[in-house]
Formats: sequence, structure tokens, C-alpha cells
Amino acid sequence: MAITKKALVFGSGGQLGFEVTRRLAQAGWRTVGFSRQTADIRQADVVNSFVESECPALVVNCAAYNLVDRAEAEPAAAYLVNGLATRNLALACAKVNARLVHFSTDYVFDGQTREPYTEEDRPHPINAYGVSKLSGELYAFAYLKDALVIRTCGVFGPEGIHTAHGNFVETMLRNAHAGRPLRVVSDTFASPTFAPALAEKAVSLADAGASGVYHVGGGESISWYHFARLIFDVSQIAADLQPTTRADYASAAARPQFSALSNARLEAEGFGPMPGLREAMTEYFDRRETVLRKGNLSR
Ligand SMILES: NC(=O)c1ccc[n+]([C@@H]2O[C@H](COP(=O)([O-])OP(=O)(O)OC[C@H]3O[C@@H](n4cnc5c(N)ncnc54)[C@H](OP(=O)(O)O)[C@@H]3O)[C@@H](O)[C@H]2O)c1
Repeated sequence: MAITKKALVFGSGGQLGFEVTRRLAQAGWRTVGFSRQTADIRQADVVNSFVESECPALVVNCAAYNLVDRAEAEPAAAYLVNGLATRNLALACAKVNARLVHFSTDYVFDGQTREPYTEEDRPHPINAYGVSKLSGELYAFAYLKDALVIRTCGVFGPEGIHTAHGNFVETMLRNAHAGRPLRVVSDTFASPTFAPALAEKAVSLADAGASGVYHVGGGESISWYHFARLIFDVSQIAADLQPTTRADYASAAARPQFSALSNARLEAEGFGPMPGLREAMTEYFDRRETVLRKGNLSR
């Protein structure tokens, strides 16, 4: 009889955590998910006690402090979750010989390029959130020789309807429904990433025993304005959408101007391409309907 391996997912209440938990179970992992309410990863004793009692083969960290602008006012809060709490997870994994999969961000880069970033490019974060996420990467590799760090970009998953921080698609829809004019930057570029497809790649990488840094972005470089246009085009929702510029859009945190990620390594190693952005957006709206229906039924 095949032995079912056990995986723990921290941050399972987030849009990516939900998809990773589901995907691991589909791939045959016995999976236990911990939301922030069940396990706050800043608490080393809590992390240790769950990891030691469950003794998993794999620990996946989907938890993060993601408030990019607020992190400028409270860098310590971001560092506690994204840096030191990753250290807690890495040390706990080392004790039971579990492998760690940790998610990081395109914001470890400064955006001073016009080509998608590869794993060989030098990180140089330009805001407190990016520094905190880079520290998490360093902690993972400091204590584990086989940690897997997956950098991703502009994550959008249908569970973002319910999560505290949502995602860009839901922000656009909410504003359009409220009849608010939308001004979106057309001179800042990223590679928005569909959470279910990212989860599928992450589990494939983990199953293959991959370690080191991998980039898993959406595979297409696009401005946020053009991404917003795609959202309204696919959903057929009317919106007052106009392009704006970085200069006209003030924010507390500096953001990289071009932070698309190259999936070349992922594809070269046989993990396949990510779905096209239009295809991913179509699937997003299909799945979103299901998430909404389930939400209405459970009320
Ligand atoms: N979203 C993006 O556009 C984006 C872009 C690049 C990289 N990433 C990375 O992708 C990963 C997944 O992000 P996501 O989009 O799924 O974010 P998300 O939906 O905001 O999920 C993050 C989860 O982490 C939880 N969390 C926060 N602090 C915690 C703590 N101390 N202990 C345990 N859980 C905690 C949050 O709980 P609460 O809701 O209760 O706070 C939330 O459920 C993160 O590593 C993020 O940095 C995301």
C-alpha cells in the first residue's frame, strides 16, 4: 500500500494558500492547512509544536504580510511575518527534516530593466515590503539546504473574493460596480499570475524535489492598465477606465516600474508553460461564479 505523505500549509486562509491546499490534496498529499487564526507563524512555539506533532514531509508557507504601502510606516510588522516568521518555519523544518516551500515576490527587484527577471538577476528591493520578503528568502536558505523559494507576481485567485486583502481583479470589479472612475497606471509592468496555475506549478516543483529559487509568474508582461482592460473585456462589465502614469499616482511605497518574471527556468526544466492571460482570466470568472454560488448557498 502506498504511504501517503503529509504536507502542512501555513497561511491557508489566503487566496494562494487555499489553492495550494486544494492542489496538494488533489496530488495525493495528506494535507493540513492552518489559517492565521489557527497558527500565527510569528509565534515560534506554535509553529514548532504543529510541525513536531504532525511531522510532515513538506511545509508550505503561503502566509505573508502583503500591505506594501503600510509597510513603509510599520517595517517591523512586515519583517516579523515575512522575515523572522520564515526563520521560525525553516528552523522547525530542520528539526523534523521536512522540506520547505516558501513564496516570495517580484518586489525583491528594483524594476530598472525592460526584460523579465530571471533567477540569476540580482535582487535589489526598493521598499520595506521587498526587503522583508528578501530576508525571508535568506532565512529559508540559511537553515535549509533544500528549501524551495518560488517568486511570483500580481497573484489573482477566485478565493480573493472572500480574503481580507483580495486582489487587483476584485478591486477593479468593486470600484466598477460602485460607479467610481478607475485610473490605472499604464507605465508600470508586471506578469499577473493566476493562483490555481501557480499552485499547480508549486506542487509539481515540490513533487519533483526542486530546490533553490524558481520564478513562476503569469508568463506575460503587461501594464496594470492593460491588465484592467482585459478584466473588463473578459467579464463584459462596463467601467470608466482611463490610463494614468506613475508620476500622477502617489503611493507611500516606491514600486518597481518593470517587475515581470521570466518562467524560462521552469519551462526549460519541463514544468510546462503557464496558461495565457486571457485564458486564465476566463477561468478566473468561471471559478468566481462557483465561489459566489457556494457562498450564497452556505448563508
Ligand atoms: N498577492 C500578490 O499580488 C502577491 C504578489 C507577489 C508575491 N506574493 C506572495 O504570494 C504569497 C501568497 O500571497 P496571497 O496573494 O495569497 O496573499 P493573501 O491572500 O493576503 O494571503 C496571505 C495570508 O497570510 C495570512 N497571514 C498574515 N499574517 C500571518 C501570520 N502572522 N501568521 C499566519 N498567517 C498570516 C493572512 O491572514 P489574514 O488575512 O488574517 O491577515 C492571509 O490569509 C505571499 O508570500 C506573498 O508575499 C503575492
